[in-house]
Formats: sequence, structure tokens, C-alpha cells
Amino acid sequence: MTDTTQTTVLVTGGAGFIGSNFVRYALQTHADWRVTTLDKLTYAGRRENLHDVMDHPRHHFVHGDICDAATASPLVESADIVVHFAAETHVDRSILAAGDFIRTDVEGTFVLLEAARRSPRLRRFVQISTDEVYGSVAEGSSAETDELRPRNPYSASKAGADRLAYSYWATYDVPVIITRASNNFGPYQFPEKVIPLFVTNLIDDIPVPLYGDGGNVRDWLHVLDHCRALDLLIRQGQSGEVYNIGGGNEVRNADLTHSLLRLVGKDETLIRPVEDRKGHDRRYSVSTNKLRGMGWKPLVAFEQGLQETVEWYARNEWWWRPVKERDPQYKAYMEQQYGSRPSR
Ligand code: NAD
Ligand code: DAU
Repeated sequence: MTDTTQTTVLVTGGAGFIGSNFVRYALQTHADWRVTTLDKLTYAGRRENLHDVMDHPRHHFVHGDICDAATASPLVESADIVVHFAAETHVDRSILAAGDFIRTDVEGTFVLLEAARRSPRLRRFVQISTDEVYGSVAEGSSAETDELRPRNPYSASKAGADRLAYSYWATYDVPVIITRASNNFGPYQFPEKVIPLFVTNLIDDIPVPLYGDGGNVRDWLHVLDHCRALDLLIRQGQSGEVYNIGGGNEVRNADLTHSLLRLVGKDETLIRPVEDRKGHDRRYSVSTNKLRGMGWKPLVAFEQGLQETVEWYARNEWWWRPVKERDPQYKAYMEQQYGSRPSR
């Protein structure tokens, strides 16, 4: 029998970086939520990310693929809320091979939306999109109504999923909201993304590969501020609406690298300027007026959050050393991505 005092929340991709932080946040914040994680455990999804909540009495972990309707659909159909994080997420990998991005990010989202369309009880489907769908922003900040101009296979697959989700609201009245967050940072981020890659390299005196002239700008959002924004939007967002989520911390990659060097206590001889990413978006910037109008603002100051993040990786070598030192898939990717990359 269903317990009507409980809210059932399906989190896809809950073993990844943001998903695992959200699962932990949700269990801590909402005593009436039962959380199911559905995750394929790709290279980026790890049980270790959920180590402290795997056996939580209100958490249930399902190892499965969102593209597999037999597994995913019943979970969607029995949920009150779906928060859909599952995706292939690394731009550099999408440039090497885009197939998995189209399959998971677009087709996987389609599978979930089809199930959502049939669900009698679903009251919220959160499509986790990204600020990358706006493409590179020369000046000013992207508003939710701006045109989408994705420029790499990852962001194009996310834009496809973003608009597909919207279409299921417009056509079938599925209670979709779409969120477009900026670059997240914090604990449990896979060490292929710039902050965990650079921090863990620097700890071991390994040079950090800074792309191009280091002048590309990203807006950094602490993952817990992202979780707080999602929580608000789950409760107060309007179906059919898009919400940007940004930290308001626009930083050039070269400046970020210098901050990391200072925090780890290393000098700039460890910077290795390398050939740029193909099609590298110069700058992302989102306007967050809409979300701030609902009472949200980021609570984590960037410098403080960055310091705590560096300290987390320094304290939690158990979490990243097995990946960096013993995972053959990781080593093969690093070799392919950086092995023969020319220095600048
Ligand atoms: P991540 O790569 O750390 O995690 C992705 C998770 O999805 C992993 O646990 C992986 O195993 C799972 N997954 C992949 N394919 C799957 C499939 N077919 N079926 C089930 N599970 C599958 O990613 P992240 O950085 O935590 O990003 C989460 C979401 O947030 C993504 O949708 C991403 O596009 C979006 N996003 C990320 C950022 C960021 O800065 N990291 C910013 C904005 C939006
Ligand atoms: O903006 C949101 C997006 O942020 C999310 O949608 C993506 O899932 C997430 O991966 C992230 O994309 P980026 O490409 O911005 O993140 P990444 O950490 O890969 O790179 C951040 C910046 O650092 C970017 O300008 C490229 C640069 N970089 C990255 C790596 C991995 C380097 O200079 N050297 C590197 O080795």
C-alpha cells in the first residue's frame, strides 16, 4: 500500500556529482521524502559518491539505464517528483565521441518523458539542463527567453533534451520545469572536470593542462546552492517554465588556476598551457533575476567554497586515487585527451 504521507522522489543520475549531492541534501532536508536513485554507474557514476546514504532507510538504489524503458518507466510512473540529472556530461568526451550523448541525453530523456506522460500521480518533472545551451555569450547575460545556440555535441544533446521536455509540457501537460545551471563545483566531482582534475594533479605535482590562452570564463556555482535552488523550484516553480541558476562568480580559467595553485600551495611552473578545446565556448553567463525574484540567492562565497572544495579533495584521497591511479578506462581517456596534446 502507498503511504500517502510520503513523497516519492526519483533521482536519475543520483550516483554522479550533482545527483549524489542532491540525494544527500534531499534526505537531510525532507523527512517525508523517499528517494530512489536510478543510475547506470557509467565511468562517472560511482557507489562511492553515495557511500554514506546507500543504506539510508528512505533511500533505494536501482542500478539501471534510463534508456531501458522496462527499468525506468515503472520508477517514473510511481514517483511524485522526478529530478532528471542522468546524462553524459563532459564536453571533451563529446568532442571525441558523441554517440553516448545522443543516446542518454536525448533518447534517455525521451524514455522518461513517455513514462511521465502516462503517470497519474506525477506532480513535477525537473529537466536538468545547462547554461551551455545558450552557447558562448560575448556580452551581458543569458535570459531564459534567449535563443539557444549550443556549439558542441554535449550542449547540443542537452538542448535537444531541454526542448523535448518543454514539448511534453506544451503538448501533453506533463508538469515539466527546466533548469539551466552554470558550472558547479564541490565534493564528489569526477576528476576529469577542471577543478577536481587540477586540484588532484597539483597535490601530486603533476602539471595542469590549461586550454588555449586561459581567458575563457565560467560562472561558478556551489553544488549545495544548486541543490537549494532545485528544492525551491520543485516546490514553487511553474510548469512549462525555464529557470537559470548561476553563482554570479565569473572567473577566467587562468585566474581559477592561480587560485587553485595558491590554495594547494604550489607555484605556476605547474601550469602547462596546451592546445585549445575545439569550438571552446569563450564565456557563459546567466541572468538569475527570475530565480532571485523567488527568494533564492547563492549562500556560498566563491573563495570560501573553493577553499573548502580543495580541502575536501585533499582529505578524501580514498575517493579519487583509485580512479586516477588504478582505473584503466580513466587512464586510457587521459592518454587520448592529453597524451599527444601540443603545448602552446
Ligand atoms: P556526472 O557525469 O557527474 O554524473 C552523471 C550521472 O549520470 C552518473 O552517475 C552516470 O552514471 C549517470 N548516467 C549516465 N548515463 C546514464 C544512463 N543512460 N542511465 C542512468 N544513469 C546514467 O554529471 P553531473 O556533473 O553531476 O551533471 C548532472 C546533470 O547536471 C547533467 O544533466 C548535466 O548536464 C547537468 N549540469 C551539470 C553541470 C556541472 O557543472 N556539472 C552544470 C549544469 C548542468
Ligand atoms: O556550464 C555548465 C557545464 O559546465 C555543464 O553543463 C557541464 O556538464 C560541465 O562539465 C561544465 O562544462 P565545462 O566544459 O565548462 O567544464 P570543464 O570542467 O570541462 O571545463 C571548465 C573550463 O576549463 C573550460 O573553459 C575548459 C577549461 N579546461 C578544462 C579541462 C578539463 C581546461 O583549461 N583544461 C582542462 O583540462
